[in-house]
Amino acid sequence: MQASHTILGIETSCDETAVAVYSSEQGLLAHQLHSQIAMHAEYGGVVPELASRDHIQKLSPMITEVLKKAKISLNELTGIAYTKGPGLVGALLVGATVARSLGFALKIPTIGVHHMEAHLLAPMLEENPPGFPLLALLVSGGHTLLVQVNNIGEYKLLGESLDDAVGEALDKTAKLLGLPYPGGPQLEKLATQGNPERFRLPRPMTDRPGLDFSFSGLKTLAWNILQNPGTYELHQASQNDNLKADLAFAFQDAVTDVLVIKSQRALQQTHLKTLVVAGGVSANQTLRQKMQIMAEKLNINVFYPRHEFCTDNAAMVAYAGFRRMQLGQFDKDLKIEVLPRWPL
Ligand code: KG4
Ligand code: ZN
Repeated sequence: MQASHTILGIETSCDETAVAVYSSEQGLLAHQLHSQIAMHAEYGGVVPELASRDHIQKLSPMITEVLKKAKISLNELTGIAYTKGPGLVGALLVGATVARSLGFALKIPTIGVHHMEAHLLAPMLEENPPGFPLLALLVSGGHTLLVQVNNIGEYKLLGESLDDAVGEALDKTAKLLGLPYPGGPQLEKLATQGNPERFRLPRPMTDRPGLDFSFSGLKTLAWNILQNPGTYELHQASQNDNLKADLAFAFQDAVTDVLVIKSQRALQQTHLKTLVVAGGVSANQTLRQKMQIMAEKLNINVFYPRHEFCTDNAAMVAYAGFRRMQLGQFDKDLKIEVLPRWPL
């Protein structure tokens, strides 16, 4: 019989401070998130030093609150999971230091979790979780990865972005369109008002074999279109000029098509029947609709995290820590170490 676990999860890799408690018997007991978006918005992106300082202020009180919500005491915890990387070094250090110190004081094991593994496992917090083996499309602000997942820790990278991550490309293009940070969700909203007939952007790297991605050319093209829309219009200029919305539609349409085309190709190559789509961009409705159509065609099942667990959160960190500890894995020495760059 497996030992039961009650794991505290801590996420501080970027601009959200998040804390959660996961129980092997009762599932997710409580979770909380403080977003720094408002603080960073006036700078148009994350300011690392401000992020670290804010994590320091928010983390300890949040741990107290989340334990209270979960109706458990510190002494009932059996382990602590924290994001060890990849991410901003100062931000990661806050979570790692708090987790390791608390673990030392409570005499319980800690485990440093890979942020992208946590994203990948997030759909397993839902009812009817996916089983291994599976194909994962991980789409966040820092990564675009296609991974064959045979089991926890058994990952084979099939494809990745050669330049900008898809979330990064969405954020940068949103910025060109004058939308506030983080641009992905804003661009999605603006795209609903766009005219699908006005522009058609290329689908980079889909006309050649392989599973890698490239998104930075699309972003440059978006800039050129904004300067000279007439050059790129499919038909004569439309009468009601809604340039930004039309471009948002075309950009999102191209990016989501690429993600679906490459996922389909990877599924056909690997003969896998289960697809997990996770990370911030997996919240995108257009992407989900197109994936659904592809999945029905190929007769495969697609799994997503619930909407709030697509973007950064601590529930996924607590869960990933739980899965690792179940395998007997935890930090073996007292070193506080983070890995700002860390391949999956
Ligand atoms: O996973 P995440 O919260 O943080 C990282 O690990 O990077 O992903 C954040 C990214 C941002 O680029 C954000 O613009 C994008 O996910 N994003 C979206 C949506 N929600 C978040 N992109 C498109 N549509 C959305 N609804
Ligand atoms: Zn993330």
